[in-house]
Amino acid sequence: MLMVLLMVEAAAALRLYPLARAKPLCRIHTVRTGKVFHTRQHIQGDHLYFSSMTTHLIKHPCKKNIALYLGRQVFFTRDNFGSSLPPFSIPTSLQVGTPEVTSAHFAGSVLLLVVNQKVYIYDYEANSWNASVGIEHPVSHISGDNCCYSGHPSCVDISDSVFAYLRGDQIPQTNIYFSNTWGYRFQKFALERQAELVGSLGGTFYFHSLSQVGLLLIDQGKAMFAYSDHPLNRSFGLPFDYNGTLDILITPGQKGILIFWFEKSLLVSRNAGQLVDPVQVQEGRHILHSSISEANISIHTVAANENELAVLTRENNLYYGNLGILSSSLIKFADQNIWSQEAALMFTNVGMLEILTPLPDSVFLAFDFQKCPVNTQAILMDPQLQVDVCKVELLQGEFENKMYTIDMNSQLELSALMIPRPGTSPVPLVMVSNPHSLGLQAVIYEDGYTYDGNTKHRLNISLRQQHHWGRADPNFTSSIKRPTMSTITLDIANKEISCVDLKPLTALISVGCDLEKKIVIQNEISACYNGVLDPVALQDNYSYVIERDAYDPSFRGQRAAVDLVVPYPYEKLGCPHLVYYDTPWKPVVELWREGKFQEVVEAEYVLLEVNGLFTYTYLLTAGTALCSSQPQNWSTILEQAGDKGPFAWDRENYVSCHDPDNHAPLRWPDVPYQILGGPTQNKVVFDQRNGIYIFFLSIVDPYYSYCHLETTFSVYVHGAFPQSVIPQEVTVALVTAATLLSVWLAYAVPKQLGTEKGLRFKGFWVGLCRRCRQSCACLRGRR
Ligand SMILES: *[C@@H]1O[C@H](CO)[C@@H](O)[C@H](O)[C@H]1NC(C)=O
Ligand SMILES: *[C@@H]1O[C@H](CO)[C@@H](O)[C@H](O)[C@H]1NC(C)=O
Ligand SMILES: *[C@@H]1O[C@H](CO)[C@@H](O)[C@H](O)[C@H]1NC(C)=O
Ligand SMILES: *[C@@H]1O[C@H](CO)[C@@H](O)[C@H](O)[C@H]1NC(C)=O
Ligand SMILES: *[C@@H]1O[C@H](CO)[C@@H](O)[C@H](O)[C@H]1NC(C)=O
Ligand SMILES: *[C@@H]1O[C@H](CO)[C@@H](O)[C@H](O)[C@H]1NC(C)=O
Ligand SMILES: *[C@@H]1O[C@H](CO)[C@@H](O)[C@H](O)[C@H]1NC(C)=O
Ligand SMILES: *[C@@H]1O[C@H](CO)[C@@H](O)[C@H](O)[C@H]1NC(C)=O
Repeated sequence: MLMVLLMVEAAAALRLYPLARAKPLCRIHTVRTGKVFHTRQHIQGDHLYFSSMTTHLIKHPCKKNIALYLGRQVFFTRDNFGSSLPPFSIPTSLQVGTPEVTSAHFAGSVLLLVVNQKVYIYDYEANSWNASVGIEHPVSHISGDNCCYSGHPSCVDISDSVFAYLRGDQIPQTNIYFSNTWGYRFQKFALERQAELVGSLGGTFYFHSLSQVGLLLIDQGKAMFAYSDHPLNRSFGLPFDYNGTLDILITPGQKGILIFWFEKSLLVSRNAGQLVDPVQVQEGRHILHSSISEANISIHTVAANENELAVLTRENNLYYGNLGILSSSLIKFADQNIWSQEAALMFTNVGMLEILTPLPDSVFLAFDFQKCPVNTQAILMDPQLQVDVCKVELLQGEFENKMYTIDMNSQLELSALMIPRPGTSPVPLVMVSNPHSLGLQAVIYEDGYTYDGNTKHRLNISLRQQHHWGRADPNFTSSIKRPTMSTITLDIANKEISCVDLKPLTALISVGCDLEKKIVIQNEISACYNGVLDPVALQDNYSYVIERDAYDPSFRGQRAAVDLVVPYPYEKLGCPHLVYYDTPWKPVVELWREGKFQEVVEAEYVLLEVNGLFTYTYLLTAGTALCSSQPQNWSTILEQAGDKGPFAWDRENYVSCHDPDNHAPLRWPDVPYQILGGPTQNKVVFDQRNGIYIFFLSIVDPYYSYCHLETTFSVYVHGAFPQSVIPQEVTVALVTAATLLSVWLAYAVPKQLGTEKGLRFKGFWVGLCRRCRQSCACLRGRR
């Protein structure tokens, strides 16, 4: 199944179109401003420089104007090189030694640099530098990603994770470091099978599009990725040619697109390295060369955005292409004298390229910037290029660049509008970056209608978690217990290169907890409405006493030494729910979303009294609940939880005793079964004790929701004989008296029934009984 998907990808190949004559690429201009300002500003520190012969231009994926130029000098800009800049330097106080930069990465609002094999952090908001903590061995590279879709926590968290590693080191013994604090603090990271892997390290990446960590292994001119998590951890990506030393670019947008390049090689992957293809060189419809090395091109630098790729060569050529879903193509633009050793390349917008060259100034310290802006759309209109017109006039969807959450048992419907060129029938395609977590049936429902003489196509896309399509293959789907990320992209199959403005539509999908979900305990019979408790008293700093032999502060079921006074948190819990002690009970748990009732929860959940009251048990035992293995209980959870505290039973550590894969033998079938809901009819059974119980409730069924659904609520148990009120001697005396009375009645009454005295006595007894029944009923409860 995995292979089938990969094969679809195999059809995707990049093509380069070389071309003869066309109009000039761009008009060159030079940015020269603010020089005096920079001279006055006394610049201290060591000037940084980049180790490679090529240049790199790293743009902040989310903040358009922030970028870093790496070359013989390093420049950091906050206005997209809109003013002259002095070379970037690192404070001398940090004592970096040789100020040689080997790698750089933007993580949120900081810039991370590997200088002289150590990681340094430049917080450009605060203009402060620091060294990161936790790296004990030399590193050469740093990698990470940024999510620009929304402020949702799972998107924001993406920029937190950073890897630092030594490229070229032998994998079994290399030290890889991971940080989830923007690179401020690192700790060692090891892949499960790292010691068994053969080869040297080409890079370590967190592929958010796949929710996997990937290690690039290089061995004898071939490279492939090893992945961290199920199901990919059992297999490798497909091997590909590894010539030279490849720089690896993760394109923005979490689509899983990777670009691998060095002077003589250019490769692309669209699935986070599972399949890597060389970029081909093509002219017209013919593939001229199957790789860059065959085409005898020397790449100087490469730039990419979400869906475009550009290459500047030492032969003074500029190549352009798009990173489409199935086929992508690169085209060679006209020759112009644009290349120099210092030239760098970047996308400033969709279809807008810029060749940037820093120019030193003999008078001032600050460098100027020569810019050559290239409007690719305008160049592609040139008939000499013989480019086919784009078959699609419009592709539009509200979901573009938005973020969605799919929790378990929920689905997502997206819609888009496509307007084809009259007379053409383009094929829309949907791709999911992480098919292992999402079973995108890629169901596009398409209907065409005519409006204003144009045929428009409405595309409805239906997304759902694969598990719930009922066709999940466990060898293919990642553990569905684990929240994951994915992107969904709608594009046109075999899009023409001229479709510059026709961006594929991408949305980020968090397959995880829907934060809008809450659980609420139904409280239809409140102890306040029934006059059992007084709401005014409850609100007035009410507190109650738990006797020492009814609770254990350490939740181990042992009696406490002293009575406990509990202030009742009325603001939080409201009036307790009324429960009669002698009726087995379970709460009615409701699921709410965005303040609206959704359903009554039928999933498995557990309860624990927060003050350690243990005067309750469960209706079922492990045996009567038909467990096939020993069920967990609060004591076993408490033992494992360690310092997580007693309330640590949740969907992550719950193991069902009905699970056929659970092989814990059922040794104690008579222990209480502490799980409510789900397949059993289990209930809570209260001891004969009246009082308030405050319960913590946690949904433990891992397949109900990715959320940790928890709540706290209170019940008032009543109707029990207040046992301790009547001293035992009095009880004994009463029982004796009652026995004697009944013996007397049995013998004496029948003889007297015929008499007037006897009738009067009978009347008295019936009346007594009636009165007694009333008061007894009051004690036993009204049902
Ligand atoms: C660098 O980090 C250390 C430790 O976190 C801190 O004490 C120090 O103030 C930081 N320096 C700067 C310049 O922020
Ligand atoms: C892959 O991951 C699964 C689940 O995390 C684990 O059980 C399995 O042992 C792993 N396989 C390898 C080869 O590491
Ligand atoms: C790698 O080098 C070999 C031999 O020079 C060549 O055949 C192959 O095409 C190159 N691969 C790539 C992807 O450049
Ligand atoms: C490759 O290009 C270089 C100069 O650009 C030229 O000297 C060499 O002959 C070319 N090699 C092939 C195989 O075309
Ligand atoms: C697409 O969704 C819209 C709105 O939900 C509906 O009216 C339309 O019939 C759907 N089209 C198809 C082909 O399912
Ligand atoms: C999963 O893989 C294992 C070993 O590779 C194989 O024995 C098993 O049949 C596979 N299961 C399915 C459902 O394909
Ligand atoms: C409740 O107790 C707190 C402190 O114990 C006191 O400040 C507050 O006034 C009391 N409220 C009432 C309504 O008695
Ligand atoms: C909890 O389960 C263990 C066995 O897993 C059993 O020995 C113990 O008695 C149980 N505790 C309670 C309170 O049921």
